[in-house]
Amino acid sequence: MVETLDSSIALVTGSSRGIGAATARELALRGAKVVINYRTSEDEAAEVVADIEATGGDAMTVQADVTETDAVEEMVAEIEGEWDSVDLLISNANIPFATKPLRELTWNEFSDKLDAELKAAFTCSKAVLPEMVASDGGQLIYISSGLSQSPQRGFAAYGTAKAGLNAFAKYVAEEYGEHGVRANVISPGLVETDATADQLNEDVRKGISRTTPLSRVAQPDDIAKTVAAIAGEGAQFLTGTYTPVNGGISME
Ligand SMILES: NC(=O)c1ccc[n+]([C@@H]2O[C@H](COP(=O)([O-])OP(=O)(O)OC[C@H]3O[C@@H](n4cnc5c(N)ncnc54)[C@H](OP(=O)(O)O)[C@@H]3O)[C@@H](O)[C@H]2O)c1
Repeated sequence: MVETLDSSIALVTGSSRGIGAATARELALRGAKVVINYRTSEDEAAEVVADIEATGGDAMTVQADVTETDAVEEMVAEIEGEWDSVDLLISNANIPFATKPLRELTWNEFSDKLDAELKAAFTCSKAVLPEMVASDGGQLIYISSGLSQSPQRGFAAYGTAKAGLNAFAKYVAEEYGEHGVRANVISPGLVETDATADQLNEDVRKGISRTTPLSRVAQPDDIAKTVAAIAGEGAQFLTGTYTPVNGGISME
């Protein structure tokens, strides 16, 4: 049986496309009212809402750049005004970063990604936590990456930022557990989205399938279903965890 998320209110950052869009659809299927946040992809965000409504779910779009504190606070105020406070935050937005070997990477390129990744997670968390505390519970799920644990050349800025995110999630879990708030990390390996379209030629696809115990490239739904499982009642005593979702290609 699929677990229900009742009428909890879920905010999925960066859910106009990719993993975020799949997660929004999955949470809606399980009964959550879902906020589709986007930065520029208004049409794609509206399509996600239309898909959710077509299956009988509730969704709304809110434009906000999650690296801007004021925009995040306005987004959360808008959700509270329209619906109610956020019960479930999925911090997912894929903030652009430089992909370069360390010898070419500048401090600004490196620190820009650290700053934006952590500011988005920090600001969105701080915007929803007070109401979670007031209502004695809530959940935060942070989308990290296997590159936070296993390095790949060219991804120093991304991997280091995601490692910081893993640590931040544990602090949220530590400091807010007494208020019934859970914080967990989901860590995908490579997933087929717009962000990886350039890398996924036929040879790469075959190589990944050959070296992955579950023998295929991950799809956004694979991540979405794990997020929904961790958000569900069955995971109610789970906090501060790090869950790789990678078909076994790296057994972290
Ligand atoms: N794809 C992978 O292989 C992979 C692997 C491991 C981890 N991840 C992680 O999974 C998450 C989603 O990745 P994805 O591949 O699904 O990305 P994607 O397909 O590139 O989609 C990115 C999403 O993030 C939104 N976004 C970007 N910057 C934003 C901002 N400043 N404020 C609000 N929204 C913003 C985009 O909205 P707009 O279109 O409006 O800009 C879009 O909805 C990321 O955290 C990524 O690091 C991905």
